[in-house]
Amino acid sequence: MRLQKYILIQYLHININSLFVKNHIKLDHINSTSDYILSLKGTEMFTDGLVVSANFQTRGRGQMNSSWESEDGKNLILSFLLDLKLDIKHQFLISQYTSLAIYDFLNKYIKNIKIKWPNDILINGKKISGILINNITKKNTINFSVIGIGININQKKFTVNNATSLSSLTNNAFDLSLLEKELFTCFNYRFKNLKDLINIDKEYLSKLFLFKKLVKYKDLNGFFHGYIDGVDSLGRLIIVKEDEKKYYYQLKELNFPNY
Ligand code: BTN
Repeated sequence: MRLQKYILIQYLHININSLFVKNHIKLDHINSTSDYILSLKGTEMFTDGLVVSANFQTRGRGQMNSSWESEDGKNLILSFLLDLKLDIKHQFLISQYTSLAIYDFLNKYIKNIKIKWPNDILINGKKISGILINNITKKNTINFSVIGIGININQKKFTVNNATSLSSLTNNAFDLSLLEKELFTCFNYRFKNLKDLINIDKEYLSKLFLFKKLVKYKDLNGFFHGYIDGVDSLGRLIIVKEDEKKYYYQLKELNFPNY
């Protein structure tokens, strides 16, 4: 690993186990904050509560092998490392808790926030934040989870037309380091319940994009009308089709309508 210039901040908490962010590495440029954390595996830095943030990523990764573009110094780009020891059957909780932490964070500044299953954050149908989760598992246990988050804050121009930012929506400029601290507070608040496996389906569904709305989707068999009825414990999306039967979808198996 190439040695990278960084600032390390250590947060001293009274009850360290109940809190989420413990060490913070701030980088200027990096390939990907998530890949950086993964490359630390086996070193003493690879411990619960590590956060790596950067001004710019040269190879930011998105879901399903896509890339994540973000203008230099304009947005929040960070990854969290959690030592979870979580049974793999509960893995969707990580997505739900992360989505709701970002929801809480944005809700102070903007309304009409929706979570597009499984964990995109939309405002007025446009994407403001994406989440990429890399789990390190052994047998049926998730030992570590690297939660990568991009939140568009001050960027105003995008190469894709379904993206937005806090600044585009409010016409204000935001202080990134202040927002970063607020995001940490939201994570601390949400994630303190994860070890107890507190179910948050009800809250997650109440904020879900197109929940119970009859619209046109596409799956491997073509277009159909249906509505989202829920998610199961594995995180599969439950859709009721016109034949009134329930169908269960994984991420790659379903296309949403274009809004
Ligand atoms: C998505 O496709 O919606 C997920 C995007 C995740 C982007 C973040 S930015 C910080 C972290 N590092 C990465 O390379 N990706 C995630």
